[in-house]
Amino acid sequence: MDKIRIVGGTPLKGVIPIGGAKNAALTLMPACLLTGETLSLSNLPHLVDITTMANLLAQHGVGMVLNGQAPNGGHSGRVLELTAAEITNTTAPYDLVRKMRASVLVLGPLLARCGQARVSLPGGCAIGTRPVDLHLKALEQMGARIDVDGGYIVADVPGGRLKGATVVFPQVTVGGTENILMAATLAEGETVITNAAREPEVSDLAYCLQAMGAKIEGIGTPTLRVTGVERLHGCDYAVLPDRIETGTYMVAAAITRGDIELIGARRDLMQSVEKVMAEAGVEFEDTERGFRVRADRKPIRGVDIMTEPYPGFPTDMQAQLMALMATAEGASMITETIFENRFMHVPELSRMGARINVHGSSAIVRGVPRLSGAPVMATDLRASVSLVLAGLAAHGETLVNRVYHLDRGYERVEEKLAACGAVIERVKSNDPAE
Ligand code: UD1
Repeated sequence: MDKIRIVGGTPLKGVIPIGGAKNAALTLMPACLLTGETLSLSNLPHLVDITTMANLLAQHGVGMVLNGQAPNGGHSGRVLELTAAEITNTTAPYDLVRKMRASVLVLGPLLARCGQARVSLPGGCAIGTRPVDLHLKALEQMGARIDVDGGYIVADVPGGRLKGATVVFPQVTVGGTENILMAATLAEGETVITNAAREPEVSDLAYCLQAMGAKIEGIGTPTLRVTGVERLHGCDYAVLPDRIETGTYMVAAAITRGDIELIGARRDLMQSVEKVMAEAGVEFEDTERGFRVRADRKPIRGVDIMTEPYPGFPTDMQAQLMALMATAEGASMITETIFENRFMHVPELSRMGARINVHGSSAIVRGVPRLSGAPVMATDLRASVSLVLAGLAAHGETLVNRVYHLDRGYERVEEKLAACGAVIERVKSNDPAE
């Protein structure tokens, strides 16, 4: 399995292009199941998770055409045309769903279009139990009959068409909001989703569905109102820039005390992350192509962070900020409120000399003057990138094992960092024991 080798200590300087948002693409792609016409998605990132979703959709009968590279010659910004002229199979098998939880996002569209679906239960994953009970309860409210049999969610809709309902989510769920939003577009009557997730990726989906002919009000607010229509049509839609990739490179600039311009990034989506980092001493400035992040003029100080649903501080940036705080002056308290068990990067960062104590859902991080390179193991997507960031700042060599997690969510990560002066390379290995 590939590894990433980093020799840390170089302040990064240069430009980094930001790709399309993985989590937006993963919900926009299954939206193609809602129509027989073609949904053309541009600015699609080139990532393993996107391939997994494409494979899943292909076995439901979706035809796909991938249109080359971005005009700038990069690998990002690809265009994918998805056509679900006929859905030939309504089962999402275990082998694909187990690779990626977001596979459950085919459930709402399949039920809405075909009145039946069989989707493998995603099961537990490294960052907590992550159930889908809220998705299922809401679909039942819309008239679906749901059973769990042999590890599969088996659902059908008596009468064939879902009915509008008032769905009150007791807790904010991104995937739950997306599944119900898609299902509601073709349901009979009005669906009101209360306590809806306001993440920009949810709004991106809603705007795309509108472009497909859906009737949705309240986009970007906690109350989404959807009036079902008989059918949706195709459209062309550009995926929004990835705010977690953006935030990760913001930290790369900060942790190396460097100066990076992020091209194509949307600063307005980064407010909670920017606020925390500005308080720590990082400077930001708009540029014509995006914005600039500087940490070469002021010391970085410890600040407290708490993860929350959008517009609060994202859980998907928690591990990266912890790496930064490990190098700050003073202490920081980081509290995780979205996922239990999302501190698996702590023992690995500690192996690099970080001083971190976990108490329940909070971690106290006491900054050290310098981390030291070490062999480390990635456990999930954001944890693995936090180890890469720590390696960029550390003295000596860091070897990050199990980089397949990184490839799920970061496109050309070593190339983008090396272009800013990082000493980083991918070490190919065919040894199955690793
Ligand atoms: C999405 C993102 C993920 C991000 C997360 C929170 C995608 C593909 N993934 O995941 O990167 O970290 O939002 O911003 O977009 N919950 C339940 N029952 C449910 C659904 C959720 O208890 O039916 C709980 C979860 O266990 C978790 C919390 O609600 O504690 C939030 O989960 P949710 O927002 O649904 O996350 P995902 O959509 O899986």
